[in-house]
Amino acid sequence: MKNFLWISSAIFILFTIAACNNTATIESQSIGDPELGREIFQDRYRTRCEGCHSLDGSEARGAPTMLGISETAGSRVPEMSASDYLQQSILDPSAYIVEGYEKQMPPYKVVKEVEVGQTGILTQEELNNLIAFLLTQ
Ligand code: HEC
Repeated sequence: MKNFLWISSAIFILFTIAACNNTATIESQSIGDPELGREIFQDRYRTRCEGCHSLDGSEARGAPTMLGISETAGSRVPEMSASDYLQQSILDPSAYIVEGYEKQMPPYKVVKEVEVGQTGILTQEELNNLIAFLLTQ
């Protein structure tokens, strides 16, 4: 019995540690589906995010890299959460211009339905998935 108690508390502690390390992942998953968000980020026709933003730290495309954005997003604007900042960055990029960069990013629009051939638009669900994806980077 003693052994059982010891083992179950050890397991409990391990799970608690794992949960703490994963708070970013948990926050991200409650917003949307990061894997679907990756597809939207990499969509070469409708969003073209990856045409300007790298995921690997390189700044060669004239826009800040998304590597580490889950950390930076929460520290850009005082009192603004990472997810709110990401939403603002996508829908109203000129509200905050990252130092050292030009005002070049197009604002995206949330629509009820996506029409084939239209660019620069996202449904609310797609926007949430995109934010969830960025929160894993
Ligand atoms: C034509 C190039 C271009 C495209 C396309 C583009 N961006 Fe940007 N983006 C920029 C530039 C330049 C900046 C920095 C200037 C500013 O803050 O607006 C920026 C800033 C950002 C920031 C803030 C980064 C930071 O470090 O604070 C986020 C987040 C972002 N973009 C996400 C996206 C997402 C998601 C998409 C696709 C839906 C996208 N961008 C499409 C050029 C682009």
